[in-house]
Amino acid sequence: MILAFPGNESLAARLGGPVHPVQVHRFPDGESLVRIDADVKGASVDVVCTLDHPDPKLFPLVVLLRTLRELGAARIRLVAPYLCYMRQDRRFHPGEGVSAPVLASMLGPLVDGLVTVDPHLHRIPSLDALWPRPVVVHAAPALAAWVAEHVRDPLFIGPDEESAQWVEAVAHLAGAPSTVLRKERRGDRDVAVSVPELERWPGRTPVLVDDIASTARTLAAAAAHLRRLGTPPPACVVVHGLFAEGAAEALIDAGVGLVASTNTVIAPTSVIDIAPLLARALAPPREGV
Ligand code: R5P
Repeated sequence: MILAFPGNESLAARLGGPVHPVQVHRFPDGESLVRIDADVKGASVDVVCTLDHPDPKLFPLVVLLRTLRELGAARIRLVAPYLCYMRQDRRFHPGEGVSAPVLASMLGPLVDGLVTVDPHLHRIPSLDALWPRPVVVHAAPALAAWVAEHVRDPLFIGPDEESAQWVEAVAHLAGAPSTVLRKERRGDRDVAVSVPELERWPGRTPVLVDDIASTARTLAAAAAHLRRLGTPPPACVVVHGLFAEGAAEALIDAGVGLVASTNTVIAPTSVIDIAPLLARALAPPREGV
């Protein structure tokens, strides 16, 4: 049984099972009431709730997960195509909270498993230490297929070292070269990246690949460099297109071409469908396989 948290109905409907909506009623004072109409007793339940803009979702999600257990669900899996807070994986400045393990310690005990797409694993090497039975779906095949259809002779470029794992996987699947830049982040919307050495790959169209675009300043800084070096407008392909306020303008100002993201987060750019890869990860293993 699939339960769709509000806003996740369209993705949930494509995952291959009966889908029931979760109702979250907002009271005028900002509190919320969570309700499910399905009979979950004895059921294996997948709760689909992507966690972009997470803070207003998290309390209703906790209530939902606890309610499912109280109503007798036999197994509960959280399907969070975008797993939030993974970038705050250490105390970068004195006194800061380390959010990634806090999130896991809040939700992990309420579920029997987690399914997510390309979590931002960097200083935390794997989800195993944090979450019960985590399953990671990789979007690289979907990104590579989109690029193959839309960009001729791509050169894949990662805007920072953290993007290496994604850009190399996509480039490998696309059978095209890749390179990774260095980034210095001076503030939320102030980013500098190293200048790419493009002489090795003449005539190719740059495709910037990252796991997340939030303010899009990382992609914009890389794209602006590329444009100054005289490349064609670079395409940008990301797994999770969070696109905070001002992101689209930053990309346009930087002179990017096509921008595409997956539908782990719904945005005007989310033209790459992750549902088939996600559905495969959710399907129970067939006997003899
Ligand atoms: C961090 O390393 C991530 O992979 C992204 O590069 C980063 O979150 C992008 O942030 P922004 O779009 O705000 O530059």
